[in-house]
Amino acid sequence: MIGSANGQRIGITGLGVHVPERIVTNDELARHVDTSDEWIMERTGIRERRMAADGEALTDIALPAARAALADAGVEAGEIDLLISATVTPDMMFPTSSALMADTLGASNAAAYDLLAGCTGFVYAIVQAYGMLASGLSRRALVVGGDVLSSILDWEDRSTLVLFGDGAGAVVMEPVERGGFLAFELGADGGGGVHLQLPGSGSRKFERPESMLRMNGREVYKFATRVLVSSAEAVLAEGGRTVGEVDVYVPHQANKRIIDHAVGKLGVPHERTVVNVDRFGNTSSGSIPLALADARADGRLRDGALVLMTGMGAGLTWGSALLEWTASPTSGGRG
Ligand code: UT7
Repeated sequence: MIGSANGQRIGITGLGVHVPERIVTNDELARHVDTSDEWIMERTGIRERRMAADGEALTDIALPAARAALADAGVEAGEIDLLISATVTPDMMFPTSSALMADTLGASNAAAYDLLAGCTGFVYAIVQAYGMLASGLSRRALVVGGDVLSSILDWEDRSTLVLFGDGAGAVVMEPVERGGFLAFELGADGGGGVHLQLPGSGSRKFERPESMLRMNGREVYKFATRVLVSSAEAVLAEGGRTVGEVDVYVPHQANKRIIDHAVGKLGVPHERTVVNVDRFGNTSSGSIPLALADARADGRLRDGALVLMTGMGAGLTWGSALLEWTASPTSGGRG
């Protein structure tokens, strides 16, 4: 799916993020599986990640992010009429985490649902919210992206344990006077889905039900390097922009080598690329909002900046969005 904004100005007016307190270093993981800080740093660029405490579930991590996004936008929860939560690790299948969060926040006027699109969930969710806002069905949306992947990691599988972390981010989306989203591209390849899966998590019966994440790293690596480039190029062409115009490039934070590959192929300067996989690992749906927050904190996400974001992950899925950043009213024009 590919499309442009069609003259409608809808942007992000609030951004908030939250990660669990517990920092897990590579050395700590090396006490559980046969790995080393050296291997993890060299192959992934990940130095540490955050992991939820015992008993901490998705909404415990996502709610502080949602509250921060609402405060950043200067809106009350009651003014939200749509809440989408992108996640593969909801508190439980139902009630949905979005409905639970809407209730806790006091977003009593909001339609609320969870969205499953693997690590691309956040990008899929902002495209959905855009569609609802552009059609006039929704006036103000809260999009939450977050995961507690530590809850589905196999602590005996070194090939996955070292890659992932927990975290969440949220954005408020609504009509804006300047800037806003320009174009989107989304895709899915279920044929490759077998390379990153959680079988045994749904209604299909398996001989050996599996409740832990399983991944063929090499295949996902090939997929990731391909779609990060093709999706970014497609959305730029759709939006009538060039790579040279991109001020802030926000790729999914899965692996520093994958990001470096995309940066090289696309020709985006490193200083315009947001990288925080070293501190957070791959946080799935939390990845892009966490990276946006870092870009804002370091001053790159200034008003009017052209932002290119691309996610990819389980499904297999991918998605890109192109937007001109609109500084939120409470951030003093900083971003
Ligand atoms: O949101 C999307 C989610 N996933 C991704 O984006 C992941 C994409 N894939 C990757 O990032 C990389 O493929 C990995 C980081 C998972 C693996 O890196 P690689 O350079 O592709 O390594 P490899 O799979 O080719 O494995 C090389 C060796 C193997 O040993 P042998 O067979 O050569 O003896 C692995 O068993 O490294 C071994 N290995 C490890 N060694 C130490 C795999 N994981 C580890 C580990 N520590 N944690």
